[in-house]
Amino acid sequence: MPIQAGQLFINDLRRHNGPLLPEIETRLKAVLESGWYILGAQVSAFEESFAAFCGVSHCVGVGNGTDALELALRAFGIGPGDQVVTVANAGGYATTAIRCAGADPTYVDVRADSMLMDPAALKGGITSRTRAIIATHVYGRMVEMPAVLAVAETAQIPVIEDCAQAHGARLDGRAAGSWGRLGCFSFYPTKNLGALGDGGAVTTNDSTVDERVRALRQYGWTQKYHCGAGQGRNSRLDEMQAGILSVKLPRLEGWNGRRRRISALYSELLEGAGLRLPPVPDASDAAHLYVVRTPERDRIRTALAGRGIVTDVHYPVPDHRQACDRDSASSDCDLPVTEGCCREVLTLPCFPEMRDEEVAWVAKSVRQAI
Ligand SMILES: Cc1ncc(COP(=O)(O)O)c(C=O)c1O
Repeated sequence: MPIQAGQLFINDLRRHNGPLLPEIETRLKAVLESGWYILGAQVSAFEESFAAFCGVSHCVGVGNGTDALELALRAFGIGPGDQVVTVANAGGYATTAIRCAGADPTYVDVRADSMLMDPAALKGGITSRTRAIIATHVYGRMVEMPAVLAVAETAQIPVIEDCAQAHGARLDGRAAGSWGRLGCFSFYPTKNLGALGDGGAVTTNDSTVDERVRALRQYGWTQKYHCGAGQGRNSRLDEMQAGILSVKLPRLEGWNGRRRRISALYSELLEGAGLRLPPVPDASDAAHLYVVRTPERDRIRTALAGRGIVTDVHYPVPDHRQACDRDSASSDCDLPVTEGCCREVLTLPCFPEMRDEEVAWVAKSVRQAI
């Protein structure tokens, strides 16, 4: 099929979800006919299969990825007066969750090669008020978890993995979401495993934490109408979304493999083009986004847009420079690598249904723009 201008998006959810529609329709009809729409058989079945996929004993479905992070923090009793350390180049979701829990974010810099949390910087970023670490596997690449866990062990604080961009990433054979005390996932439609609406989950091997998150997602109920688990809220994965996720989960490994091949092909075709390319993905990488670095970002974006190639920037403003945080103590930090990334990162289209000719066309267009 010839490539036409105006056609290529960063993610094409019609191409991704279209082939699944008959199966999804059957599933949704079954939910509709069941007469049970919240916390029923579909959610339980998905929780069980996603826990198995991640190699953990528990999974709790929640409303979205940001809630997963906030409920994780609350499950550890983190609140006002506490600090949680994270990175500032991951879209601000952890910061939002930390603030919603009443705590204060602090930031450490990222590594220049991977753009992920730098364990050496993390060591120096722990204070007497630090109560947890949120390690975000940005772009589908996994943080160096053994080094992060070593810092956490010395400080005796839990590690929460933000796996919203890393469904199916595996470091040393162990899945994202199974390394920390808790893993937090988003099923936003564009994620590697995406619902057709909002959704999220928490994974853990810790049965006490599992019980707490399970209660906190539903008003703090320890049993119906009995709020025994502290300050809860309403954040539940619904039956329809859980059913859709169960249809999609068996395809996730195949989709991730295709994403890795697209990323590797980009890197081959863009070698020597004057861009800073991401590491070639291995099995540890869910290849969620293909992100290059260039000081010429805005000019290249404009040139690509002129050819109908939609790009994006993940993310343009580091958390500590956001207007809403400008006056807080959290903004008082020095993160030169993070700031450099935010000035230069450019995300090229990458989704499992993208054809090799399309990748070649984008790469050629990038070269021409340079
Ligand atoms: C790294 C990361 N963490 C958390 C989230 C938040 O997920 P949600 O949009 O489901 O709240 C996202 C979603 O975009 C994300 O990319």
